Amino acid sequence: MSGPNSTPVRIGIIGLGTVGGGTVNVLQRNAQEIARRAGREITITQASARDLNKPRICNTDGIALTSNPHDVVNNPDIDVVVELIGGDTLARELVMSAIEQGKHVVTANKALIAKHGNEIFDAAQKKGVMVAFEAAVAGGIPIIKAIREGLAGNRIDWVAGIINGTGNFILTEMRDKGRSFEDVLKEAQELGYAEADPTFDVEGIDAAHKLTILAAIAFGIPLQFEKASTEGISAITTEDVGYAEQLGYRIKHLGIARRTEEGIELRVHPTLIPSKRLIANVDGVMNAVLVKADAVGPTLYYGAGAGAEATASAVVADLVDVVRTLTSDPENRVPHLAFQPGALADTAILPMDEVKTAYYLKMRAQDKPGVLADITQILGNANISIEAVIQKEPSDEATHATIIMLTHLVKEKAMNQAIAQIESLSSTEGKVTRIRVEQLNKDD
Ligand code: HSE
Repeated sequence: MSGPNSTPVRIGIIGLGTVGGGTVNVLQRNAQEIARRAGREITITQASARDLNKPRICNTDGIALTSNPHDVVNNPDIDVVVELIGGDTLARELVMSAIEQGKHVVTANKALIAKHGNEIFDAAQKKGVMVAFEAAVAGGIPIIKAIREGLAGNRIDWVAGIINGTGNFILTEMRDKGRSFEDVLKEAQELGYAEADPTFDVEGIDAAHKLTILAAIAFGIPLQFEKASTEGISAITTEDVGYAEQLGYRIKHLGIARRTEEGIELRVHPTLIPSKRLIANVDGVMNAVLVKADAVGPTLYYGAGAGAEATASAVVADLVDVVRTLTSDPENRVPHLAFQPGALADTAILPMDEVKTAYYLKMRAQDKPGVLADITQILGNANISIEAVIQKEPSDEATHATIIMLTHLVKEKAMNQAIAQIESLSSTEGKVTRIRVEQLNKDD
């Protein structure tokens, strides 16, 4: 490359696992195209891996290897540190140290940004360095850039996303092939999609990390992971998936961030969405984020949410961004959280009790006169209006029928109270299953 500064930018990569290996491969394979875009070559000077003897998916010839990640951060020859180890203890230490030493950082670490992003961006701002994190949300989908830059003229109303590939893969395989939860999870782990601790995937913690980041850049608020409400998919049964289909819905594990008059909703939970919505048809490990903004209306972003090269695509795009802006005045760069650091709003996050949604309810009740009337009476007293009811007759030997209902919008607190009353009726048996329903209409 020739130009005002044709010396290569030297980077250090921490972590040579799935994403680290993919990043090395993409940087090596597309080196020329990347340099033509960035204006300078990008050289991998050093990389660290916990176990240097482990087989890798990438070729590390010409890269100095170390098992100590601090060697990479402290290496005076490195301009940009790429953190790809995950977790938020060692990663935080390394990223803060890199910033302290005036190095730019690219990270794919959603837990780190969701939990410590406020502190990290504050330090980065003071040092005038960039911390780029496109790969932290929805893998290869450039959703951070889309919201932060592409939609910068809009007031964003809500964001709803399938932002955990492992969870979506599990729900899809359960629905399409009737496979067991455990069996599909094992496959996702083998394919390198799942988190080191897969409960992060199935209990919605990983999605809540990502949603926290999306909400911050969509609404211009600080990162507030601790206020996100999180519910996993482990209680979803193939029976619920089937009833949802009969009612014209699909069950997806959604992250939803919505601006309301009362505050901002920040919630991850299984959700029934109309089958005809594009996002309801996002299957397998794929991710999708639907953004409703005032000027453009709804826009949908779809693509691979996990995997070596899909995630590397976002890491490398961040590297190109960092290289392009190396010489620019830090005050005039795109702000880390989309809004200027001094202009973040303190809008409250709405407690889950105050969130309004429609519901899918499934309960077992004695098949005799008056029982359905008792249930609808409880719902009526709580001002909960019913949209649809299906009753499945009990088999010959069973005494209880299954009743499935769809309700209109109601506050979570009122619904929880009504459910407690229904469960205490002598004519009902066991727990009521409740899954929230979202229409995701363009006018919502
Ligand atoms: N475990 C995550 C997922 C990886 O399945 O989506 C990508 O963040």
